[in-house]
Amino acid sequence: MSIPTPHQSLPLGGRHIVLGLSGGIACYKSAELVRELHKAGASVQVVMTEAAQAFITPVTMQALSGRPVATSQWDGREPNNMAHINLSRDADAILVAPASADFIAKLALGRADELLSLLCLARPIAQCPLLLAPAMNREMWAHPATRRNVHQVRADGATLFGPGAGDQACGEVGDGRMLEATELRDELIAFFQPKLLAGRRVLITAGPTFEAIDPVRGITNLSSGKMGFAIARAAQEAGALVTLVAGPVHLATPRHVRRIDVRSALQMHDAVLPLAARQDVFVATAAVADWRPASPADHKIKKDGSGAVPGFVMTENPDILAAVASLVPPPFCVGFAAESQDLARHAREKLVRKSVPLVVGNLGPATFGRDDNTLLLVDAEGERALATADKLSLARELVREIAQRLQAVA
Ligand code: C5P
Repeated sequence: MSIPTPHQSLPLGGRHIVLGLSGGIACYKSAELVRELHKAGASVQVVMTEAAQAFITPVTMQALSGRPVATSQWDGREPNNMAHINLSRDADAILVAPASADFIAKLALGRADELLSLLCLARPIAQCPLLLAPAMNREMWAHPATRRNVHQVRADGATLFGPGAGDQACGEVGDGRMLEATELRDELIAFFQPKLLAGRRVLITAGPTFEAIDPVRGITNLSSGKMGFAIARAAQEAGALVTLVAGPVHLATPRHVRRIDVRSALQMHDAVLPLAARQDVFVATAAVADWRPASPADHKIKKDGSGAVPGFVMTENPDILAAVASLVPPPFCVGFAAESQDLARHAREKLVRKSVPLVVGNLGPATFGRDDNTLLLVDAEGERALATADKLSLARELVREIAQRLQAVA
C-alpha cells in the first residue's frame, strides 16, 4: 500500500501528528483514523502503550501509518535513545485516541512510566498541543475521580475531543464512546483553523424553501444547501457559536452547530427573526421562494375529469434578509445573489436594495448541487472574485473576509 505524501492543499496538508493509543476497545477505530488523517494530508507517527497492544497490534498500525510504531522508551534504534524527546519535537499535535480513564489519570498526575505518558510530559507545551479522545465505560466517565482528572488535564492545557454518547462495547448506553474516526479527523481539522470568529454569534440560512400548494404538493427550487452548510462549518471551526436555519435538505449537520429545520419561507422568517438581534453576523444563503400560494388547499387537489386546471393566487413572501438588515443595530449582514447572468450588477443592486454591507454573487444554476463554486464579493469598496474551489475552502475564505470586516467596524 502506498502512503500518500502530505499535500499542502489538503486540510491537514503538511501536518505531522503523533497518534497515541492507550488501552481500550476503541483502538479498532484508531486504525481507520490513521487512514483518515492520511487522506486529509497528515503524516502520522503511532505510539502505543502496552495495554493498547492487547487490543490491536503494532503490525496493523505500522502498515497503515507507513512508519514503525514506537512502543518503548528503551528503544535502542533511536540514536540518542531519547524517543520521548524526539517524537514530539517535530509534531504539530499529539492526539491520544483512545485516551483511557487510566491514561487520563496518569496525565493528571504528571506520571511518565512508559513512552506515551512520558512524551506527553516532555512535549514543548507551547508548540505541541495535547489532544485527548476519551474512551471508556459511562460509569468510569461519570466517576468523580475521572471528572477530577479531566478537569485537571484541561487546566494543564489539554483539549478533549468528545467523548460521544451511545452504545458501548460493554452493552451499556451512555457517555464515554470514543468519537468515530471521521469525527476525530474533523475535530482535528477544526482545531488547526484560526479562531477568527472566537465567541461571535453567527446565524445562517441555507437550502431552498418549500411552499405548499396542497398537503402533498408544493413549489421549491434546486438549491442544495451545500454552500450554507459549508459556511456554518467554517464559522464553527473559526470559533463562532453557529445557528443554522435549514430548509428541506438532506445534509449532515456540521459538528457543534445548532440546527433548526424549517420548510416554508414564513417558517424560516419566524425562526430567524427572534434570534437575529442577538447575532454578530447573519449570512443569508437560503434560496427563499419569492412567492407562495396565498391559500394552500386543505386537501389534495383532485382532477375532476373535466380537463380544468387549478389556478393559484400567489402572495409575496417576507424578505428575511431585508428584515434582519433593518434591525437597530443590525448584525453584520451578508446576502447571496444567485444569478444566471450579469452577476456584478445584480449583486450590487441587492447590496443597495437590502441595505447590507456585503453581497456574495454566484452563478446560480451552474452551482446548485455542485461541490465547488466561484464567488464574487461585492461591497461598497468594490468587487473581489474568489477563484473556483470546493465550497468548504470558499466558505473559509468568506469567513476570513467577514472577520476582517467585523474588526474594521469594531
Ligand atoms: O431577494 P433576492 O432573491 O434577489 O436576494 C437574495 C438574497 O436575499 C439571499 O441572500 C437570500 O437568502 C435573501 N432572501 C431572503 N428572503 C427572501 C428572499 C431572499 O432572506 N424572501
